[in-house]
Amino acid sequence: MQREQFTSAAPFLPPTLTIESVRRAASGCQGCDLFLRATQTVFGEGASRAAVMLVGEQPGDKEDLAGHPFVGPAGRMLEEALAAAGILKSEVYITNVVKHFSWSPDARSKRRIHKKPRYSEIQACRPWLDAEIAIVQPRVIVCLGATAAQALLGRTFSVTRQRGEFLASNLAARVMATVHPSSILRAPDEPARREQKAMFIRDLTRVAGELRRLPKVA
Ligand code: URA
Ligand code: SF4
Repeated sequence: MQREQFTSAAPFLPPTLTIESVRRAASGCQGCDLFLRATQTVFGEGASRAAVMLVGEQPGDKEDLAGHPFVGPAGRMLEEALAAAGILKSEVYITNVVKHFSWSPDARSKRRIHKKPRYSEIQACRPWLDAEIAIVQPRVIVCLGATAAQALLGRTFSVTRQRGEFLASNLAARVMATVHPSSILRAPDEPARREQKAMFIRDLTRVAGELRRLPKVA
């Protein structure tokens, strides 16, 4: 029998949205074809009423195996930068625009190579991110890299031109885009890496400053 083909996660959303109910429902999502070759759904994690939501692209190889977001090298870079910016773990919820690992096999090694998610997959997965935003109600959303930025701020958004700025959006009181931490890991040499990391910390420090200024919501 042929499998039913879905083009959206929407049919998998539970009737009542709580972080527990959506996480459970997302674990069985077949809203696009990415679930077929991934190990498991990697849903967002963090404080249930976090002040800041960080949005990445998709789980990587390590995250796919572990079932948790940002547990690989990019996650370590992010953790260091958050600490340097003075943002506490208890203030953060961290997720991705796409919840399953998209990959292609490397011809020579057995490694699974990260493959950029398609626009249709980003669109299909969007109901999960929208549910997370609706439940967590972060005061600040930070898009990590172009995939997240273009998904949330429009397909023509340029991280190079507009990184570190707070932008008008109805998603949260403040929305900012910055680079993806894995881009820092790909810097050509150590001085470049140090400079890019400093710029990433500078952007996150602006987020920290904004958090201290914005009124706390109950
Ligand atoms: N890169 C991402 O965008 N998300 C993760 O969870 C890990 C790496
Ligand atoms: Fe569902 Fe998103 Fe996974 Fe596609 S990537 S199957 S929409 S959770």
